[in-house]
Amino acid sequence: MQDYPQYRSQQKIIHWLSAVVVILAFLIIMFKIILSQFLGGMPNIYLLHKSIGVLVFILTIWRIKVIIQYGIPDVLDKHQRLQRILSKSTQGFIYIFLLIVPLSGYLMSSRPLNFFGIISIPAINVPNEFYQFFHTTHLVSSYLLAILIMLHVIGALYHYFWVKDKVLQSMLIK
Ligand code: HEM
Ligand code: HEM
Repeated sequence: MQDYPQYRSQQKIIHWLSAVVVILAFLIIMFKIILSQFLGGMPNIYLLHKSIGVLVFILTIWRIKVIIQYGIPDVLDKHQRLQRILSKSTQGFIYIFLLIVPLSGYLMSSRPLNFFGIISIPAINVPNEFYQFFHTTHLVSSYLLAILIMLHVIGALYHYFWVKDKVLQSMLIK
């Protein structure tokens, strides 16, 4: 038995898979010009970016379902009130943006979304001015998500190297 709370293995898998796909979605769009030379042009870059974004959305819905079903372990010291508030609010906003970013990406396009070239997800027809709104939402929310993830990773490393508690270990796959 462990002497510290652990996330369920399902939660760990979702966490690390989400981390990989979210970072991939960012990297693909940041290095789109270089990558398009290796991946057969810009349309393939967008196909990949959008399909990975859909994976992020599916993983987030699964994540929320697991949390509703099993809850999340209480890994932080009960006396560290400020730390608990900061950590929980960062995580809360990450959940919200993990839904808003892919949804706004989907809604800002008037063309069907081709999921990895296998499934075509029809576009939702919205008035023209809304496309612009969702476009701006996608850009702003994806940058806010990037900032939150950076704070989150700094927090996890702070616990591991500075506080030297078991917060990081609670999320590591053994
Ligand atoms: C978690 C998932 C996603 C992340 C982190 C993400 C992030 C980003 C970022 C950082 C940009 C570049 C913004 C800029 O040019 O300054 C971008 C652009 C774009 N994203 Fe996403 N995105 C995600 C999901 C999606 C999805 C699901 C779709 C569509 C279904 C999508 C469609 C697009 C398109 C078309 C652009 C290009 C916009 C332009 O060039 O003006 N994204 N995304
Ligand atoms: C190297 C990168 C990362 C490390 C070291 C890390 C570490 C951790 C740790 C230790 C926890 C448990 C903390 C607690 O319960 O207070 C956690 C939870 C969480 N992390 Fe990360 N994380 C990383 C990347 C990410 C990324 C990229 C995302 C967003 C996609 C993310 C989203 C979350 C969320 C939403 C939680 C709350 C619990 C859950 O639903 O899984 N993390 N992370």
